Amino acid sequence: GETGMAKEKHKEILNVSHRGASGYAPEHTITSYKMGEKMHGDYIEIDLQMTKDGKLIAMHDERLDRTTNGTGLVKDYTLEQLKQLDAGSWFNEQYPQYANPEYAGLQIPTLEDVFQKFGKNKKYYIETKSPEVYPGMEKELLRLVNEYDINKETLLVQSFSPASLLTMKELDPSIKLVQLLSYKTNAVITDEEIAAIKEYAMGVGPNYTYLNEEYIQKVVNNGLEIHPFTVNDKETMEKLIDWGVTGMFTNFPDLLHEVTKGK
Ligand code: G3P
Ligand code: CA
Repeated sequence: GETGMAKEKHKEILNVSHRGASGYAPEHTITSYKMGEKMHGDYIEIDLQMTKDGKLIAMHDERLDRTTNGTGLVKDYTLEQLKQLDAGSWFNEQYPQYANPEYAGLQIPTLEDVFQKFGKNKKYYIETKSPEVYPGMEKELLRLVNEYDINKETLLVQSFSPASLLTMKELDPSIKLVQLLSYKTNAVITDEEIAAIKEYAMGVGPNYTYLNEEYIQKVVNNGLEIHPFTVNDKETMEKLIDWGVTGMFTNFPDLLHEVTKGK
């Protein structure tokens, strides 16, 4: 690890329900978000896409094909059209061990639906997806955050796109931002990269696969939060906590709760 620095181990580990409790229920449905809450997830993670008529919806992919009975691009359909789709049956087919007849026919939620359902004091961890495909996405996100008076102390906005995060910062400097990072081999972060990210973000969200203790300690010792994604087994959760992460994204928030509750 870092020389001359005491090892920092974080006490309160943020439990982020990734796409809701998406290991147990169809991702990005009100049902999976509710389940995440029940399983002690602190945050609901929401990926955003935008419809043809400019509405923000909760969906991971730009395409409808994987998680609905529709086909093609989200941006080519109006919200009214997308509301006809079944966003749950695919899960029952894919994961028979967790299938539930109540999942069949679940609708795609808009961000507005989610805010209405969970309210202003729920903790939301919202990702601007494909921001280059959806000009104005950040502005619309902020408009809804303000309209629903979402608590900005706890709101986190995340993106792989630094440009999208900088747009958010320009629109409202009080919004807390997290820079997502993706490593394809052994993760390394330079002092320059840390300094650049600290200009606008309070934390980083790297894929956990290639992380090591030195990376995590360097990030936290520089005052950034670190929330790796997407960690779905207890052994890896334990290891990352031992290395000093401040939270993590998981499809199984109940497992992370079991790991953290004794600490
Ligand atoms: O937002 C954290 C993590 O979800 C990023 O990857 O592809 O699952 O959105 P992805
Ligand atoms: Ca995401």
